[in-house]
Amino acid sequence: MRILVLNGSPKGENSTTVQTAFYLQALHPEHTFVFLPVGQRIKGYEKDFSPVRAALQEADLILFCYPVYTFIAPYQIHRLIELIKEDGVDLSGKFASQITTSKHFFDVTAHRYVEENCFDLGLKVVRGLSADMEDLLTPRDRRRPGCFLTRCFSPAARGFS
Ligand SMILES: Cc1cc2nc3c(=O)[nH]c(=O)nc-3n(C[C@H](O)[C@H](O)[C@H](O)COP(=O)(O)O)c2cc1C
Repeated sequence: MRILVLNGSPKGENSTTVQTAFYLQALHPEHTFVFLPVGQRIKGYEKDFSPVRAALQEADLILFCYPVYTFIAPYQIHRLIELIKEDGVDLSGKFASQITTSKHFFDVTAHRYVEENCFDLGLKVVRGLSADMEDLLTPRDRRRPGCFLTRCFSPAARGFS
């Protein structure tokens, strides 16, 4: 499977959130992970959307990966969603999900915002992973990302029932 990670943190590769996606990449070499630094390059994507369009078209699973900042997704994710809608790229039938880190304060609001926009885009939504910013530091919580990815690829568990 080709997994497109839309890294919405302005910290880029130093983001706590994207470390979870790196962790999943290390656990699952059988999948291809492609990372787009949306949080750092959004201004560039406003001028030339073609790299994002191509990556979206090639992806089997689109993974919005971002921190919760001031009760919602960061601006860069909001702007990316606007650009995707403006471009009109056809994503219908593809799968989408999300990984966030936060202190669980309004993380539900951020997840709902991204889910609702994914529904607008005709994507099939898999319930996301809302991790604590310290989850990767303990063996028990390190199991959660693996369970999340299994959910993404398990037809029976996909979506909301
Ligand atoms: C300016 C700012 C605002 C934040 N707002 C929230 C918030 O509303 N809710 C929450 O649970 N955590 C909040 N946090 C905590 C971040 O979500 C958390 O530190 C996250 O892991 C940072 O991820 P990153 O390294 O990928 O950017 C905030 C952090 C910062 C710096």
